[in-house]
Amino acid sequence: MPRVLSGIQPTGRFHWGNYFGAIRQYIDLQDRPDASLYFIANLHALTTVRKPDELQGYVRDAALDLLALGLDPNRASLFLQSDVPEVCQLNWILLSGAPMGLLERCVSYKDKKARGIRADAGLFAYPVLMAADILIYDSEIVPVGEDQVQHIEVARDLAGSFNHEFGETFVLPKPKVMDSSARVPGIDGQKMSKSYGNTLPLFEEPKALRKQIMRIVTDSRPPADPKPPEGDHLYELYSLFATDEQRETLAATYRRGGFGYGDVKKALADMAIEHFAPARARREELVAHPQRVREILGDGAATARKKAAEVLLRAEKACGIRH
Ligand code: ADP
Ligand code: TRP
Repeated sequence: MPRVLSGIQPTGRFHWGNYFGAIRQYIDLQDRPDASLYFIANLHALTTVRKPDELQGYVRDAALDLLALGLDPNRASLFLQSDVPEVCQLNWILLSGAPMGLLERCVSYKDKKARGIRADAGLFAYPVLMAADILIYDSEIVPVGEDQVQHIEVARDLAGSFNHEFGETFVLPKPKVMDSSARVPGIDGQKMSKSYGNTLPLFEEPKALRKQIMRIVTDSRPPADPKPPEGDHLYELYSLFATDEQRETLAATYRRGGFGYGDVKKALADMAIEHFAPARARREELVAHPQRVREILGDGAATARKKAAEVLLRAEKACGIRH
């Protein structure tokens, strides 16, 4: 059974884009007994979140959200990146042989530099830590969004050259690009992203969520006018929750005209609230039992560390740090 591994950064509250674009797919992939590992990439988040309380809060929320959304600790391990310190040891081993040029080509760093934003060494070396995350568990399949594929290529490159130099040590991972059709628009029609301030959060109070949904930007089309549903972000958001039949009905209504956006928003709010209700209830239950969450993360870390120690030893022996 191939080992599946993925990480998600705790850099803000998760939103609908994170769920439909990433988290939902992780959860669908967890049905591989004892094989799946998911972690909260708090070391990576340090490159952007520089307020300790904020980081702690995001990590706590990430764990609660993932578990509430269906990540099942009986089928997959969930842990914090920093609870497996072996990763930092492997990070240094990989960093020592990582070509500058390879890292200079990585978009995360290149983009920031091109935009004149001060980049620190952590951001520059970010893909190497990510390679350590992946290689240390002999991961074979890494489900990620399109934007992370380059980083998996870096992990493959580093693993390949290490194997070449020191003998077969690492398994070469493969990216599994998550369904890119699930590009979720934000309330302004651009890609939903916390950097654009256009998100719809996953676990908002129903009343507050309704308000935010009512703020979805729409055009000033008179209600009587027909309108093509394709490319309309309100229609796209509705489609995330709708059955095929509901979606067809709304598409026909758009084409016919004679409807108001307010009614569509109301229907969307009803659906979203209903869709996330079971997860909300599970989340509240977990909030009331913080010890349970700590245990899940502790068990996850123990499982992950066992594997990490084995692979780290293999790498240390290969390059002469240990014999
Ligand atoms: P943000 O853009 O809010 O900073 P991240 O870059 O932290 O979100 O994304 C975390 C994961 O969620 C990534 O795998 C990314 O591909 C996915 N994701 C984020 N926003 C969207 C979106 N609008 N549609 C689909 N997937 C998304
Ligand atoms: N860089 C990833 C992101 O921003 C998060 C991440 C860190 C990750 N380490 C990983 C994803 C290892 C997959 C595997 O989304």
